[in-house]
Amino acid sequence: MELWRDKIRKTEPYIPGEQPEGRNIIKLNTNECPYPPSPMTERVIREYSCGDLRLYPSILCRGLKSALADTYSVEENEIFLGNGSDEVLALCFMTFFNSDKAVLFPDITYSFYDVWCQLYGIPFKRIPLDDSFRIVKEDYFGENGGVVIANPNAPTGIYMGLESIEEIVSANRDSIVIIDEAYIDFGGISAAELIHKYDNIVVVQTFSKSRALAGIRVGYAMADKRLIDALEAVKNSFNSYTLNSLSQIVAEAAARDTQYFRKCCENIISTREWTIAELERLGFDTLPSSANFIFTTNKNIDAKALFEYLREQNIIVRYFNKPRIEQYLRITIGTKEQMEALTAAIRRY
Ligand SMILES: Cc1ncc(COP(=O)(O)O)c(C=O)c1O
Repeated sequence: MELWRDKIRKTEPYIPGEQPEGRNIIKLNTNECPYPPSPMTERVIREYSCGDLRLYPSILCRGLKSALADTYSVEENEIFLGNGSDEVLALCFMTFFNSDKAVLFPDITYSFYDVWCQLYGIPFKRIPLDDSFRIVKEDYFGENGGVVIANPNAPTGIYMGLESIEEIVSANRDSIVIIDEAYIDFGGISAAELIHKYDNIVVVQTFSKSRALAGIRVGYAMADKRLIDALEAVKNSFNSYTLNSLSQIVAEAAARDTQYFRKCCENIISTREWTIAELERLGFDTLPSSANFIFTTNKNIDAKALFEYLREQNIIVRYFNKPRIEQYLRITIGTKEQMEALTAAIRRY
């Protein structure tokens, strides 16, 4: 006899970094921005008429799409919006990876990729990074059901140049290559321009990191119009109103304030370089980072023990108990004061 248990989908979920309730914590574990979002976001929230919340949000999202189209020199119909880039990526996997061949991504990368493959039953293959944790582009030139590259990669922070990304895209004209650019604004060059040259690339970005809006959940994909239409069709078979009205206007205000955005990124980059130098003085080896986090190790200190010590000091960083990286900590770049508190705590340890 079939029980209800047998009818339930079984899946291993992604486990996000902890979101503690207390305020007295230095939170360096989920790569959020340490600065508030653009002051323009506060203005649009204050001016928003709450009565409008009775209406469903716009499906076209013209305001936000036009701000992004101006920013990246693409057309509005080359943009797809979602409730965080996690939702955009989840819909991309569902839309673009429908082959018997394996989807390829690095063995050390954003761990949500495995979860979506398992959820949808997509075959996949993890390709090992080389000994210095770099992606070897040639490994992605063979037959496959799709490719996913986080660039810069997470949790390593290592960036792959645009020429190498283009080589991967051009070697895979018969499958879709997703470039997850969650951290691109902290030192890389976006592959967005390639969407006019190749119809098999999808570039995914987010408002959660460089635009300091993790709380409103807005992400987007840029690609050839036919790929965007396919994504829209899948989304509209699932939930038409993914992006709420407030998120749309707040994200639009942030996207239009390029001056504030640039300043935030510059501050984070300079604090990152300061932190890497301080940690080097304390005997740490840090991978070259083009992200708003660093991935660091110290051959004289057990990473898990240090992670636990910092937790007791109310400083939360990220530890992954996984092969190859179990002696590393991923540390988000906070304000200069937060990073001073971090290095002082490590010195005490
Ligand atoms: C590589 C990568 N991609 C995507 C995301 C998802 O970001 P969000 O859903 O907040 O846009 C994250 C979040 O940490 C990430 O690290």
